[in-house]
Amino acid sequence: MKVDKLARFNLPASLLDSWKNIQGTELLPLQVQAVSRHGLLEGKSLLISSPTSSGKTFCGEMAAAAHLSLGHKVIYLVPLKAVAEEKYRDFLNKYARLGIRVLISTADHPENDFDLEKGNFDLALLVYEKFNQLLLKNLNLIQTVSLVVVDELQLIFDPSRGPVLEKALAKLRLFSGRLQIIGLSSVLDHAEVLANWLGCQLLVQKHRPVELFQGVLWNGLYHFRAHNSGQEGEEKLEWKDACQPLETLFSNLERLLSRGEQALVFLKSKAQVEHAALLFAQRVKLPEAGQTLKHLFELEPTAGRDKLLQTLSSAIAFHNADLTYAERKLVEERYLSGEIKVVFCTTTLSLGVNLPAKTVFLEPLKYQNGASQPAVLLPLEWGEYENISGRAGRLGQQDCGKAILIAGSEFEAEILWERYIESKPFQPQGQLFNSGLDEVFLDYLSAIGTETVTSIQEYLQSTLSFRLKEFPLVLDETLAKLCRQHLLTQDNFGKFSITNLGRVAALQNISAQTVLQFHSQLFEFRPDDQFALLYSLVSTPEARIFLPYLALGEKKSRIYVKLLSEKVTSGQVKSAALTELLQQPELLTFEVLQKLKTCFLLEEWIDGVEIKELERKFQIRAGQIYQIGEQASWLCSSAALIAQFQSP
Ligand SMILES: Nc1ncnc2c1ncn2[C@@H]1O[C@H](COP(=O)(O)OP(=O)(O)OP(=O)(O)O)[C@@H](O)[C@H]1O
Ligand SMILES: [Mg+2]
Repeated sequence: MKVDKLARFNLPASLLDSWKNIQGTELLPLQVQAVSRHGLLEGKSLLISSPTSSGKTFCGEMAAAAHLSLGHKVIYLVPLKAVAEEKYRDFLNKYARLGIRVLISTADHPENDFDLEKGNFDLALLVYEKFNQLLLKNLNLIQTVSLVVVDELQLIFDPSRGPVLEKALAKLRLFSGRLQIIGLSSVLDHAEVLANWLGCQLLVQKHRPVELFQGVLWNGLYHFRAHNSGQEGEEKLEWKDACQPLETLFSNLERLLSRGEQALVFLKSKAQVEHAALLFAQRVKLPEAGQTLKHLFELEPTAGRDKLLQTLSSAIAFHNADLTYAERKLVEERYLSGEIKVVFCTTTLSLGVNLPAKTVFLEPLKYQNGASQPAVLLPLEWGEYENISGRAGRLGQQDCGKAILIAGSEFEAEILWERYIESKPFQPQGQLFNSGLDEVFLDYLSAIGTETVTSIQEYLQSTLSFRLKEFPLVLDETLAKLCRQHLLTQDNFGKFSITNLGRVAALQNISAQTVLQFHSQLFEFRPDDQFALLYSLVSTPEARIFLPYLALGEKKSRIYVKLLSEKVTSGQVKSAALTELLQQPELLTFEVLQKLKTCFLLEEWIDGVEIKELERKFQIRAGQIYQIGEQASWLCSSAALIAQFQSP
């Protein structure tokens, strides 16, 4: 089907021309099916489940354009701020000149909150959290929107992103009869459950427009299976000693570079990607990435920037969460421009960002930060493997793609084949009730207002997670507890309503426990004891995932205990909880030391100490410092909201 044929859906000719210029005159098979069989452009709700790079995101864009051309409002949901920024620039380019008001809403753009809540937009790009917040603030606004596109919908089954997305979509369903929902998901095993739940038709396609070979390299032979044809084959590749997988990797990269190809390499840890990038850069000695270096010099000095300066002198880069947002963006852009030849990265690069490579090497492991435990090494989930390997062979860029796992033994080669190529073991699991019922109640009642137990029960039973796995709903106890905690109230007719305090938990997407903690401590905070406030922020369950690791030297020197002692002696810290730490050394656990470290870091960050100095002093990197700052700001804004209410 030709793009021109879309003119019958009232899409402006100038837009069709720009689509044709960017990606050609033909629609992909998936897009043809969505348009001609499933009413994508005629208001029909649809869940599309198909492999990476099969043209799903463009289906969402076409649907959006059809609504916009009728003057209707569209909300487009993406999982990450970085993806929102990328899509925003893209949509602004294409749609602003057609008079469409394009708006981005993420935590980085508070200036747009007012326009979003008032509905002053035509096309709004939101991350999932912002969308849920919007529904809580103004549920009626959704009645003025005619299309919601949910990109990367498979994340509803992700333990960390799933709960907020399911909360938002469960509320959206209450209005689903009135608007079109387009869900875009990578291949799911039981997509029909999700489609039924959302009230959508289902379009499943297994075919990928660009063939992808996925397989394992062992002993010089790359054994692969083709995604589309299912055929297996073998190819001879470079091979060194089995005990030196980096040597094998580097030799293969050299071969690709000699053919003028770019490559992506996914490794398990932040330290490892830097190390491999530095080693490989010294070894290959390519001409420097001059333009990239020029831009990099203009960025804020950081330890990551220093390392990138070294690797880029040989056109090699790395990409991990220790880099700042600006550094990561630069690496992505300059790789796309072709100047950077190889990027060594962690899984930070796997989702949504459209960085193509003909060949992707990947290590099937990742580090996961346990709450205040040292990070643990885990195998990649099958879904993560699919996402990463799907970076290889992007449409319009390559004729095929190759994803290569390097095995360290024959046994490992068999296991990897079995786990990632042979079986496709993704069983969707609901994530909504991960942390109990409290937050789900608060969220629902915050949006709806007042409800009876029966209606609350009906709502819970209607959620996706409940449908996937039913469990006994014991509501009375939880509701009574939330009332005792002043997060809910119950009227004489037995109906429940949210209190101001409960509403903060819902709006800020934080736990009831954190709200109660802030509320009970607020009156103890003294304006001249900033440190105690910071300590309270980092003592919440939400802070556990961002507490920085303690270096051995920091543990041995007991530096943060000494610093705290100085503060207490000089009278800067007055809080009883903190002074008690010094009197009872058994309280100084690993986690407490991590919290103290975070507070000292935040204090200096707030005082404007330069990032490079903070990196040196606290032995953590700029990317992580910004992340800690961002999360602490969010917790602090929650505490500020609570402070507005003298009583619940
Ligand atoms: N009709 C088309 N003709 C040519 N190229 C296309 C067409 N539709 C999309 N593309 C291009 O194909 C690539 C993949 O498309 P898209 O990003 O929509 O896939 P996707 O299924 O959403 O992938 P992912 O699961 O990785 O997000 C993009 O570079 C896009 O510009
Ligand atoms: Mg996509």
